[in-house]
Amino acid sequence: MKLGSTLAKSVVSLSKKANRHLLLWMGIILSGWVFCYIIYYIVDPNRIKKNRRAINSNVGLPEPLKLSANYIGQESVPHRSYLITRTRCTQSVFLLIVVFTAPGNMDRRTLIRRTWGTDPSVSPSWKTVFLLGQAANNRTQNKYLEAERATYKDIIRGSQNEHYYNLTLKTQMGLEWAAKYCDFQFLLKTDDDVFINPFNLVEYLQKPDTRQRNLYMGRCHYRSVVPRSGKNGVSLEKYDKSLYPPFCNGPAYVLSSDLVLKLVELLDVKKTFQNEDVYVGILIEKIGGPVPLHHPGFRIRSCEHFEGTFSVHGGLNYYCRKKLFDEAVKERMKNRTGKASQSYDTAI
Ligand SMILES: *[C@@H]1O[C@H](CO)[C@@H](O)[C@H](O)[C@H]1NC(C)=O
Ligand SMILES: *[C@@H]1O[C@H](CO)[C@@H](O)[C@H](O)[C@H]1NC(C)=O
Ligand SMILES: *[C@@H]1O[C@H](CO)[C@@H](O)[C@H](O)[C@H]1NC(C)=O
Repeated sequence: MKLGSTLAKSVVSLSKKANRHLLLWMGIILSGWVFCYIIYYIVDPNRIKKNRRAINSNVGLPEPLKLSANYIGQESVPHRSYLITRTRCTQSVFLLIVVFTAPGNMDRRTLIRRTWGTDPSVSPSWKTVFLLGQAANNRTQNKYLEAERATYKDIIRGSQNEHYYNLTLKTQMGLEWAAKYCDFQFLLKTDDDVFINPFNLVEYLQKPDTRQRNLYMGRCHYRSVVPRSGKNGVSLEKYDKSLYPPFCNGPAYVLSSDLVLKLVELLDVKKTFQNEDVYVGILIEKIGGPVPLHHPGFRIRSCEHFEGTFSVHGGLNYYCRKKLFDEAVKERMKNRTGKASQSYDTAI
């Protein structure tokens, strides 16, 4: 008994001693490490340069992602679009709406999200994403964009600077992104100042007699003369024919997914063109694609509601875009109740 307790006591005191030693050594090592770190921090000549580089390269953003065309099968085509976001579709969608927008236009994006951009139903028929470039020389803006992306997850950003002359790069980026990261039936390209009526458009596209493949539709031009001077003037070197191929206006056009895949294959073959909508016409011509389908549902410059509208572009202010949506919802409800009472009638 006695022997046992003395033994226990000495073991305890031994381990206490050992603990004290251990703590001492740990303390020495830790303070040595901290000391070295401080010295390194003070002495390191690259520190300031490193920090500056980190800010310029947008810390916090994922690594740039280079799209590859391998998914099309056949030969691999090198790509131009560098994405700096990793947004992708989480479920397949009937109509993918791709909106061209500039970094500073958050109010327009917010309105779109609150109105026609969002399909609130359980299994949505359409999904809206926003295509942006970089805000040149504005770090604050790029930080805001990153926060917006993290919140809404509907932003796709490319590495090119946001600029009017880079719009065709945005078209390429949109087509490539859709082809690679989204499973969709139709793509609608539009701009952030356009009103879209997705109820009518989806209903039209779902009709059994609407072409499900080989569809290029919008407000289209068939014999457009190439301007040689002025703001949109095109030199002979850039385009030597007197007429543009048929094309649909940039603010709203629809492509079926099979066409999108075919166009993506061509992106490196056909050089970009200054007008993004004409560029799509050029690509369509190149693949021997369909004659574009002109539809009166793609309207212009009217704040007035018309039944059967797909889109309205040209000088719409914030109020008009909101009003047109409210009326689109009313039209939708009227048609629905109309249909409901019809079936009720036949039931009787
Ligand atoms: C940069 O972006 C911020 C946020 O949108 C804006 O307030 C500011 O005016 C911009 N600065 C420049 C130089 O454009
Ligand atoms: C985009 O636009 C800017 C500004 O005009 C230009 O410097 C740049 O070369 C264009 N292309 C890319 C890929 O940024
Ligand atoms: C409502 O009815 C009109 C007239 O028949 C039609 O043009 C339009 O596409 C319908 N809209 C919806 C949302 O069903």
